[in-house]
Amino acid sequence: MNCTVKRGITGALFLFAVVLLQCQASAQIQRDSLAQTPPMGWNSWNKFACNVSEDLIKSVADAIASNGMREAGYQYVVIDDCWQVSRDENGFIVADPQRFPSGIKALADHVHSKGLKFGIYSDAGARTCAGRPGSQGHEYQDALQYARWGVDYLKYDWCNTGTRNAEEAYSTMSRALLATGRPIVFSLCEWGTAKPWLWGKGIGNLWRNTGDISDKWSSKKKWPDGSCCEYGMVDILDQQVGLAAFAGPGHWNDPDMMEVGNGGMTIPEYRAHFSFWALLAAPLIAGNNVRSMSPEIKEILTNLEVIAVNQDKLGREGERVKKNGDLEVWAKTLADGSRAVILFNRGSEEAEVSVAWEEIGYPAHLTAKVRDLWAHKEAGTFTGSYSAKVPSHAVVMVKIIP
Ligand code: GLA
Repeated sequence: MNCTVKRGITGALFLFAVVLLQCQASAQIQRDSLAQTPPMGWNSWNKFACNVSEDLIKSVADAIASNGMREAGYQYVVIDDCWQVSRDENGFIVADPQRFPSGIKALADHVHSKGLKFGIYSDAGARTCAGRPGSQGHEYQDALQYARWGVDYLKYDWCNTGTRNAEEAYSTMSRALLATGRPIVFSLCEWGTAKPWLWGKGIGNLWRNTGDISDKWSSKKKWPDGSCCEYGMVDILDQQVGLAAFAGPGHWNDPDMMEVGNGGMTIPEYRAHFSFWALLAAPLIAGNNVRSMSPEIKEILTNLEVIAVNQDKLGREGERVKKNGDLEVWAKTLADGSRAVILFNRGSEEAEVSVAWEEIGYPAHLTAKVRDLWAHKEAGTFTGSYSAKVPSHAVVMVKIIP
């Protein structure tokens, strides 16, 4: 073989290697490319806690695919804690054979067959919050197993983590998930203790920033071990103030899954809960029994005008722009330059709440159309400000369109 030929072969091999590397680089998933808008779906915990089974998850997927929720944007069906019981002799995680007799792969296939995505739960400690096996020391093995099963979303809890460093622990699982090559949305459930909004971008796609939500308007209850806390809806809302700047496409603040429809709040209170989660660009993860809900609850969860605010492509989180005792104004800038605005009355009597254009970044002389997102109609055209009567424990949610 003469030199020219040899050089030719070496060159071709080199070129092949470069192309291969480039292909691999472009195939590699970037964490932030997932969940470009806040994830929408359903999770078993708030309603069913440990009472999970393949029958439950299948029937929930069937309901979401047939009751209008899928068309409204709900996508991920997530089993929370208690699906897992042990590890096998090779260290692989084992699902409860009584509750999931067909196995997790078959369940994921069923969820996928309904045009939905499938999510699962684990924990960064040796045990989950309900005492089931966690992923510590098994991160790559668990990620591999999830990918084999067809998992699209992982919620990763923080119980029994001792002195582990949160950023390190979540980075390990994030890398393990990416290494599978399967796009798996990563939900950090660290409860805000180590301020995940400061380091979560690039590691997770969403991060809890408070203790658990409870199905109450307002409450703050310590856990049995004395640690803090389980909160009512408005107590979680108050803890969102100041966090908006940390959210954006691919990385969202998570004020916890929704309680809409679980029975502990009134319809106006649930409407307020849903409006705020939408305005906060929060993940819209329903937590009720979606197989049998009242028309009022379904109407809340599938309000397309409110969901559009949540899913707006700009990915800005809304913020509180005014507080006057029990009366507040919250606003979110949308991609077309309009504003979604919540007029909020947390008091016990009906009250008039008003928003001045200057409070939402518009000049006072501007004339804008106001559309009511719950009444589904135009409220009219206004210059400088807009006011509405808001009942007790309720919101008026509008879009202000210059
Ligand atoms: C923690 C989480 C909850 C839920 C339970 C499951 O409390 O914050 O959302 O996942 O664990 O045990």
